[in-house]
Order: sequence, then structure tokens, then C-alpha cells
Amino acid sequence: MTNQFFVAVIGAGPAGLFGARELANHGARVLLLNRDIKPGGLAEYGIYPNKHIMKNGLRKQFRQVMDLPNLDYYGNITIGSQGDLTLDDLRALGVQAILVTVGAQGTKWLGLPGEDLVGVYHAKDIVYYYNHLPPFSQRTFYFGKRCAVIGAGNVMLDITHFLAREKKVDEVIAIVRRGPAEIKFEKKEMEYVIDNLDQAALDAEIQRVAPIMQAVHQDPQAARATILEALPKALPKVSDTRFRFEFLASPVQLIGDENSNLKQVELEDNILVEANGDTKARGIGNKRRLDVETVVFAIGDKVDASFGLPIEWNEFVKNPNPHFPIEGISYESPFEDVFVGGWSRQASTGLVGYARKDGTNASKAVWQYLQTKQPIEPNLKAVAEKIKSLNKPIVTKDDIKKLEAIEIAEAQKRGMEEFKFDTNDDMVQAMGLTVTA
Ligand SMILES: Cc1cc2nc3c(=O)[nH]c(=O)nc-3n(C[C@H](O)[C@H](O)[C@H](O)COP(=O)(O)OP(=O)(O)OC[C@H]3O[C@@H](n4cnc5c(N)ncnc54)[C@H](O)[C@@H]3O)c2cc1C
Ligand SMILES: NC(=O)c1ccc[n+]([C@@H]2O[C@H](COP(=O)([O-])OP(=O)(O)OC[C@H]3O[C@@H](n4cnc5c(N)ncnc54)[C@H](OP(=O)(O)O)[C@@H]3O)[C@@H](O)[C@H]2O)c1
Repeated sequence: MTNQFFVAVIGAGPAGLFGARELANHGARVLLLNRDIKPGGLAEYGIYPNKHIMKNGLRKQFRQVMDLPNLDYYGNITIGSQGDLTLDDLRALGVQAILVTVGAQGTKWLGLPGEDLVGVYHAKDIVYYYNHLPPFSQRTFYFGKRCAVIGAGNVMLDITHFLAREKKVDEVIAIVRRGPAEIKFEKKEMEYVIDNLDQAALDAEIQRVAPIMQAVHQDPQAARATILEALPKALPKVSDTRFRFEFLASPVQLIGDENSNLKQVELEDNILVEANGDTKARGIGNKRRLDVETVVFAIGDKVDASFGLPIEWNEFVKNPNPHFPIEGISYESPFEDVFVGGWSRQASTGLVGYARKDGTNASKAVWQYLQTKQPIEPNLKAVAEKIKSLNKPIVTKDDIKKLEAIEIAEAQKRGMEEFKFDTNDDMVQAMGLTVTA
């Protein structure tokens, strides 16, 4: 065997997969280690389930990465200080550089009273649930008749899409801390739910907040027009769900009944203040309550604090003076052999294309770092033995091929567009894996 650089990429979402490809194409020996059995990350388990063309297109690209001969895939293995293997375990196996692309798996709780009530959820858990990611696929969620979704991004619209088109709840209220001019969602995603939008309520809401917008030189009618841009391509509604917005409001507490079931959310009204060329929401002390049985926070996520890398705000700490900046960006953790990319570098930011570019650029930094080292003969036997000693079913790329074929056949048998096993046990059984340690 010729000497090669030996690297581990942790997390097989878009950033990890395309990052791994970049390194493998340079000739490195790549270990791709993934918490989930299947690769894909949020492309598999976040993107709305009915986007079959997009998801299948991405899966095709991911398969090409998985087929690279100098890449080994191990799924169903969690890395980190509380995981199956630590970063030091990887170093002890001879790994020369580690690229962390584990996404943003932490939950951004706001610390409000009542966050533990039944009916209060974070969007990530729900999107994992409806995309069949174990163990979220097994969790019970309570979707009441009146649901509030906090946030004004595409994830808020995905949750609204689910509540209006699948759960067919009575009402979805998007609660937005800033105003109609600061929405983050895109026209395309609004097309799924705009037929459920109560336009009279939108007009009344725009009229209510217009003076606050005008005070910071915003045009309420221009914002209204942007929100309604999706109308010409509106998908006909399939429920009577009433979708409406409450702008300039922040949740301050969640109120439950004697059985700890959510019954109300208390909001504080905000005004807008100008700050560094942008606006900020500022509470004005006026509080009011809405009757709701479900609240979903769709406010972005943060990185996993238990992973073991230092954290600042919602992200892993980056070396502010990188040795190998790419396009002016630091992909370096405070540890010289550990790099971060994708949503692990910038939590909840950007589409798959952005994660792909970020993972690739992170790998460019890793590659430059490796040029300061000598290639080695990777001890793949030691890796395989270590993995076997974990005493749990670890999934390889051949197993994934088998699983995919079984799920495709099952979908055909059932006349479904797509079939996914809901538990790891079912997947392990389908692949015929046994633990032999
Ligand atoms: C609800 C939702 C819908 C979206 N819809 C779209 C869309 O329609 N179109 C679009 O372009 N973009 C969409 N995005 C954005 C897109 O999904 C992200 O940009 C992209 O997936 C981020 O890639 P990533 O690789 O950084 O992280 P992720 O995709 O989160 O991948 C992280 C990977 O790391 C693994 N992992 C986590 N922790 C560990 C650990 N400790 N050890 C080992 N492995 C670990 C996970 O198993 C996962 O495979 C959506 C995002 C969300 C949240
Ligand atoms: N179909 C798609 O293409 C698709 C689907 C889903 C997700 N995505 C992508 O995935 C990324 C993440 O999406 P996202 O919707 O999670 O994030 P996002 O676009 O950043 O939106 C987050 C929303 O939450 C609000 N928010 C943040 N912190 C808050 C707080 N403490 N209190 C109240 N509101 C708060 C934000 O308001 P402020 O603006 O005031 O901060 C914003 O409205 C985005 O790049 C998105 O485009 C794409």
C-alpha cells in the first residue's frame, strides 16, 4: 500500500459528503463516520418529504461519493466526548486531521417558563419525525387545533406546510419577532401554504404594524407584496387551516393546565429599532396571551455542546487567525488538527448548495494543513477492529446499498413513492447485521 494522508470526516450530511469527496479526490484515505445509519443528514431527514426529485437527485450525488474507493463509511456511530469514539480515539488510530461536519444538533431553547409543557417543540425534532429519522420517528407529538410557530424562515413554512397539509389543524399562527419586511422565507416555500393564508388578517396585521415600520423607514405595502409573491403559483389547499401572521411579537412564557398541557403562549409586543444598518426587535412591555395547544420553535439551531469542542454562542469556536483561510474564512478549531465545516461552522445557515461549498472549502483547508505532515500507511485493520469492539451494529457502504435496494423494493411493493424503515432495529435487521464482538 502506498502512503496516504489519513483523515476522518465526522458527519455525512452534505458538508461532510462533499468535504470527504474533496479529500478523497486529492488522494487522501477518508474515514466518513456518521451518527445516522444513512448518509445525507438534513438532505435526507430535513428537506420536506414530498421533494422527491430534489432528494433523489442529491441521493444520486451522495452515492457517487460513497462509491469512492479510498473512502470508508461507518454509519450508526456517534463521535464526541460522550460518543462511541472520541477525537482522541481517532488520533490514536493514526488519523492525521479531523473535519467536523456534524451539523447543528443542539436545541436553541430560549429559557422561557413552560418550555417543558406537552405541546411545546422545536422544529428540528418534528422535521426529523416526519422524515422518519430514528429515534425521533418513534416520538409522540401533540398537534392541537391551534398551533403557533415561532420564526419567519423556511423552516417555519415547512412546519406550517406539515400542519396545514398533513395534520390539517384549524389554525397556524406564525409569530415573528420583527416585522413584515424582515421575513426570511422564500416565495417557493410559501406556494405550499399561501392558499391557506388569511389575507384579510394579513392586511389588518400590516395596517397594525405600519406606523412602527414607517418609523424605521420601511414600506409596509412593499413588504406585503413580497409576502404575497407566491400567490400566482399557489398550490390549492387541502384543508381549511387558517394561516396567519402575528408580527412584532416575542414569546415570553408558555402556560399550561393542571396536566402540564400547553394552553396559552404569552407574547410581548415589540417595536423596531435601527442598529448597524439593520433592525432589531425591542420589547415594549405590553403583554398578551394567545390560546394555543402547540408551539413550535422554528428559530434555528445551535451546535451540539456535548460534542467536546469549545462553543461560543451557538457555534463551535473558530481560530480567529487561521493558518489556512479559504476565501477569507476560518475553518479551524482551536485544535490544529480539527476543522469545522457546514452547519457545524455556521449553525442553521444556508441551503444544501451552501453546505456543499462550505464542506468542500473546509476540506481545502484540511488539505493545506496536511501538506505540513508526512503521508502514512493508514492502519485500516486497527480501525476495523476498533469499530468491531464497539459491540453495536456499524453500517458500511455495502450495507447502505443493500438497505436502499430493500427500501426501494418495499416502496414498489406498497405502491408508495418512498418507503423508509422507522427504527434502527428494522434497518439493521433488513441489512442482516449482527454484532459479533
Ligand atoms: C427543516 C429543513 C428543511 C430544509 N430544506 C432544504 C431544502 O428544501 N433545500 C435546501 O437546499 N436546503 C434545505 N435545508 C438546508 C440543508 O438541509 C442544510 O443546508 C444542510 O443539510 C446542512 O448540511 P450539513 O452537512 O452541514 O449538516 P447536516 O445536514 O445536519 O448533517 C450532519 C450529519 O452529521 C451527523 N452527526 C451529527 N452528530 C454526529 C456525531 N456526534 N458523530 C457523528 N455524526 C454526527 C448526522 O447524522 C448528519 O448525517 C433544510 C434545512 C432544514 C432544517
Ligand atoms: N425549502 C428550503 O429551501 C428550506 C427549508 C428549510 C430551511 N432552509 C434553510 O435552512 C436555513 C435555516 O432555516 P431557518 O428557518 O431555521 O432559519 P432562518 O431563515 O434564519 O429563520 C429563523 C427565524 O427565526 C427567528 N428567530 C431567531 N431567533 C429568535 C428568537 N430568539 N426569538 C424569536 N425569533 C427568533 C428569526 O428572526 P430574525 O430575523 O429576527 O433573527 C427568523 O425569522 C436557512 O438557510 C433556510 O433557507 C431551506
